[in-house]
Amino acid sequence: MTDSAKNATGKVKFRSVQMRNTDAHLDGAAELERLCFSSPWSRESLKLLTNDGIGVGFVCECEGKIAAYGGMLIAVDEGQITNVAVHPDYRRRGMAGAILNSLMRYAKSCHADSVTLEVRASNAAAIALYKKAGFVEVGRRRAFYTKPVEDAIIMTVKLK
Ligand SMILES: CC(C)(COP(=O)(O)OP(=O)(O)OC[C@H]1O[C@@H](n2cnc3c(N)ncnc32)[C@H](O)[C@@H]1OP(=O)(O)O)[C@@H](O)C(=O)NCCC(=O)NCCS
Repeated sequence: MTDSAKNATGKVKFRSVQMRNTDAHLDGAAELERLCFSSPWSRESLKLLTNDGIGVGFVCECEGKIAAYGGMLIAVDEGQITNVAVHPDYRRRGMAGAILNSLMRYAKSCHADSVTLEVRASNAAAIALYKKAGFVEVGRRRAFYTKPVEDAIIMTVKLK
């Protein structure tokens, strides 16, 4: 990361914006999916997150790149977070937290009662991120994930 990507206090500058159906956003998010997950969402499926009323995504732009993204599907009264992924070079700079806040604000604006997600039981970083944002563990799905097989922890936050 270059110095120009930092502000006067040394903190990294980034912008969190709603994901749009553009090459820059879809290619950036698809690249993060491939980098971060063993079963990545395809560029085509990521379009769901730009489809009003079905899903929403937010991306963090930094140094002209998409450094982070997160998505959520919207059911009647519930948001379902699909994934949050931050490029390894840009972690621990608040990007995932900013994306989660944007997703939760969006869910509130849709009058959702709660936001739910699944996370690999061994993913301590993500579990800490979600707990910090107010999510609590409400259950477990046995062998939910493949590559490798692993339980999912179900976490939820009430919005009302
Ligand atoms: C998990 C992940 C999204 C976190 O992104 P990030 O931008 O580094 O997170 P933030 O900087 O916003 O961190 C917010 C909080 O999350 C927690 N956290 C994040 N990374 C952590 C780590 N490696 N260890 C412990 N806690 C961590 C901390 O509480 C942190 O707050 P703090 O920095 O004030 O201590 C990122 O590590 C990632 O992309 N991992 C691979 C993909 C993944 O597992 N996604 C989740 C799928 S469910």
